[in-house]
Amino acid sequence: MPALYDSIGAGYETLRRPDPRITARLHDALGLARSVLNVGAGTGNYEPADRAVLAVEPSARMIQRRPPGSAPVIQASAAALPFAEATFDAALAVLTVHHWPDPPAGLKEVRRVTRGRIVILTFDPAARPWLTDYLPGLAALDEAQMPPLEVYRTALGPIRVEPLLIPYDCVDGFLYAYWRRPHAYLDPRIRSGSSSFHALKDVDAGLGRLEADLDSGAWQSCYAHLTGLEEYDAGYRLLVSDPVGDPPDR
Ligand SMILES: C[S@@+](CC[C@H](N)C(=O)[O-])C[C@H]1O[C@@H](n2cnc3c(N)ncnc32)[C@H](O)[C@@H]1O
Repeated sequence: MPALYDSIGAGYETLRRPDPRITARLHDALGLARSVLNVGAGTGNYEPADRAVLAVEPSARMIQRRPPGSAPVIQASAAALPFAEATFDAALAVLTVHHWPDPPAGLKEVRRVTRGRIVILTFDPAARPWLTDYLPGLAALDEAQMPPLEVYRTALGPIRVEPLLIPYDCVDGFLYAYWRRPHAYLDPRIRSGSSSFHALKDVDAGLGRLEADLDSGAWQSCYAHLTGLEEYDAGYRLLVSDPVGDPPDR
């Protein structure tokens, strides 16, 4: 079956670059792990250069766009990881689980091949960042495709959940990264960096309202509290899972 990102991944490597503050959080969460499996690795964002990383990615297009010197990569799906039990010290999965055909089965597969910690960056579908005020279809899409945090608990056992606040100048252009740069959502090139905008139909009316509110100053009045913030809780969550029997904190 053709991988989704073979068709929607154009420009990914320019629009979606690792943000150094998010990189630091993820690498810190990986603790002392020496070998790391990066599942749904894409173009290699957030892969630690100081550890033995092996990447898994189903999309040939994303694999081709990995920069020279990136970690080795295997074309495969989280649904069936071609590794023996407990092969890796740790695993990383960044903004990918919602794309897997069967998230609970994929999470169990990641646990099978990982002897230590699993670190996941995902989005809590219960969150309602301001953009959903203009595009309620995004909230519906988030609820339909983003696994609730309970799915992770059921698949992996106890998890530590930490809010990942998004800096106002976030380098990585994922969906809600532009929370303090609302004009960015009017740019189709920027929107193309998020799979949600590829999935969402009929954004014109909502974006038209956003543009009008930005022009009139209504957005600035309504969301004045955002303009003073350096970071925002847009709903992104860092999940840390240790093997059952280990305490969920370090
Ligand atoms: C939003 S990108 C994230 C890529 C990378 N982790 C990053 O942070 O830039 C989602 C990735 O998940 C991958 N993906 C989709 N289905 C997958 C599956 N069944 N197993 C593993 N990865 C998958 C996509 O091909 C894509 O590269």
